[in-house]
Amino acid sequence: MSIMTITGHKYHYGTFPQDFLWGVSSSAYQIEGGWNADGKGPSIWDTFTHGINTIPEVANGDVACDSYNRLDEDLFMLGALKVKSYRFSLSWSRIFPDGRRSSLNQNGVNYYNRLIDGLLARGITPMVTLYYWDLPQALQDIGGWESVEMIDLFNDYSDFCFATFGDRVKFWITFNQPHTIAWAGYGTGAMPPNVNNPGTAPYIVAHNLIKAHATAYHTYDDKYRASQGGLVSIALDADWVEPYDVTVHREILAADRALQFRLGWFAHPIFKNGDYPEAMKEQVRAKSDLQKLTGSRLPAFTEEEKNFIMGTADVFCINHYTTKIVNHLTDELTPASYQFDRDIVENEEPNSPTTVIWGQRAVAWGLRRLLNWIKEEYGDPDIYVSENGAATDRGMTWDDIDRVFFYKTYIDEALKAYELDGVKIKGYIATSLLDSFEWLHGYIYAFGLHYVNFNDVNRPRTPKFSQSKVCKHWSRSKASSHVFLLSSFLFLD
Ligand code: BGC
Repeated sequence: MSIMTITGHKYHYGTFPQDFLWGVSSSAYQIEGGWNADGKGPSIWDTFTHGINTIPEVANGDVACDSYNRLDEDLFMLGALKVKSYRFSLSWSRIFPDGRRSSLNQNGVNYYNRLIDGLLARGITPMVTLYYWDLPQALQDIGGWESVEMIDLFNDYSDFCFATFGDRVKFWITFNQPHTIAWAGYGTGAMPPNVNNPGTAPYIVAHNLIKAHATAYHTYDDKYRASQGGLVSIALDADWVEPYDVTVHREILAADRALQFRLGWFAHPIFKNGDYPEAMKEQVRAKSDLQKLTGSRLPAFTEEEKNFIMGTADVFCINHYTTKIVNHLTDELTPASYQFDRDIVENEEPNSPTTVIWGQRAVAWGLRRLLNWIKEEYGDPDIYVSENGAATDRGMTWDDIDRVFFYKTYIDEALKAYELDGVKIKGYIATSLLDSFEWLHGYIYAFGLHYVNFNDVNRPRTPKFSQSKVCKHWSRSKASSHVFLLSSFLFLD
């Protein structure tokens, strides 16, 4: 494939296959509310938002979209959207309030049973994330993801979920964005549990997360796969990174390093050989030497662990939002930091439209390149875009034309990857079903296909223009025998 083919920004008309998994996403802390309802235990996000809360408007997820009490409304919206799949997450501390099986809260199980059954009754495939950042506070109190104990605890929770919901759930995602957990949670400390230890903690946390993922995968394999026949994966995240100058070897290496440190950190062990990318091992070893440490800050897997980790995902799930331009930079040695270990600097892609979130430009062509990179790097796996979407201002109740443009162009680049490049893309999940708690942004930005009025106690949901577009889109693809008419997305009606 020539660079010319993939840089062309022309609109491509074509079809995804009939069984393509179209869906929308959400996550427990972002939408459920009911933070202490019916026996739910606190998570680290409850502790953070109730403590020294630096989120705009001191926002929290105490009520959020109130989906814990408004399940029927969510199901109604999903039914109206005619999606094939709904990606949501389970709140660990709603099921096990203190993180352990002995604290089982049947009310939490009942809630997720109603959700799953409601989806199946509407012909919607549940795509279930086991861990979407809301660690039970009781487990943070014993060290959280810095502790190896978490591997068994996560495995027991996963085992319970497979046993309880796996007769109906056939698509499992262990972790959402382990990179965010490791770096934002334990490196910068911007997110809970707010550990600011950028040189070592992210590597230790990632090491434990990878082992926890692999352990849960093997539990599914050993105990459930034969009878339940589902898929297990992990939702990784990456921006596409474009070298600042593709004619300069050093810049190409820098861009590759950026991808290895972000995506390869987790994908290389799981999808390739059980071990971290060479570039990452070399960088961290070299920096650690210069820092006069006795060993590398990047922990090593034993041969046994590598064999255990390698191949522990049935499909590749990727969350993607934007593209950056990368330069080589020989970075600082002090303080020791994952960020400086990479020897890169990232900038915005200057020619694409901005969105309301700083640094999140809508660079649709980056998705196609990222999908191609994954295909080449990880042996042509089946790929699901497990999150993709754009923010608009929260007051946007109907006229979200920017979001329509974002989806139209990004989906078209995914279609090019599928039809022109032969990438085995199997599904696309739009983020998100409804406006919700956007983590450190609170409620000031909104990703939803539905507007939610957070000032109204009833949290009424209103479809946006983008919702009407995807809704027509999906219903057409269902009605017609085998075609998915992408062109209908913007131009028809
Ligand atoms: C997170 C989503 C969030 C989105 C926008 C992603 O990285 O996975 O939960 O809605 O960013 O803030």
